[in-house]
Amino acid sequence: MKIIIANWKMNLTPKESQKFIHSIKNRKSETVIAAPFTFLSGMSVLAKKNKIKLAGQNVCQFNEGAYTGEISAKMLKEAGCSYCLVGHSERRIYFKETDAQINQKVKNLLAQKITPIICIGETAEERKTGLTVQVLKKQLMGALAGIKNASVVIAYEPVWAISTFQKGNKVKSAGLDDIISAHIYIKSLLKAYKAKIRVIYGGTVNPENSRDILNLKEVEGALVGGASLKSSSFNAIIKNT
Ligand code: PGA
Repeated sequence: MKIIIANWKMNLTPKESQKFIHSIKNRKSETVIAAPFTFLSGMSVLAKKNKIKLAGQNVCQFNEGAYTGEISAKMLKEAGCSYCLVGHSERRIYFKETDAQINQKVKNLLAQKITPIICIGETAEERKTGLTVQVLKKQLMGALAGIKNASVVIAYEPVWAISTFQKGNKVKSAGLDDIISAHIYIKSLLKAYKAKIRVIYGGTVNPENSRDILNLKEVEGALVGGASLKSSSFNAIIKNT
């Protein structure tokens, strides 16, 4: 079963989230919504009833204390999260998150039995200069440092294919060959890990390209940004799994 994760980023409202859950159908996949923090508790009962799992979009690298504005892994657990995004490129680029911070966040989540969804991916510049493989290895090994046997999800999200970082109206996803080779490379780095680690793709997955992408045997699911904001397009992606 593939996993399809909606990343709502800083969009929608708590009220709209209720309507959205009611309209999710054709669930052939494991369906997860990464919603803003203030939505989570309010969504948890309805989400459970509709077999939708919840994810945080970020977590603090500290466990508790005087960290104004932050949210801990324990708080996410109580709010009903079974997953949490970590190291999304918007957090790495806009908020300067480092591999060391991401590694600590992963450890805090695992301690609360929340599955981290670790986002990794190269920028356009890194790709142009032939650094893709080095970047993926550095980010992956950095996030998993000191972790030997834990079930996590790795989201390959080439920064140049994420709608946020594309200019103009026509956003484009990575080619199927690029997606396959990155997934094979990431899986080769994970051979030493005993736990089951799923590798999924994110970067402008939409109703038009999701069938081809999700048909690839290397791709175990999708992390969907823009196309997850409307239940019609999110449903269409779920239908393609
Ligand atoms: P996108 O975003 O689908 O809008 O490209 C994906 C993501 O940022 O996770």
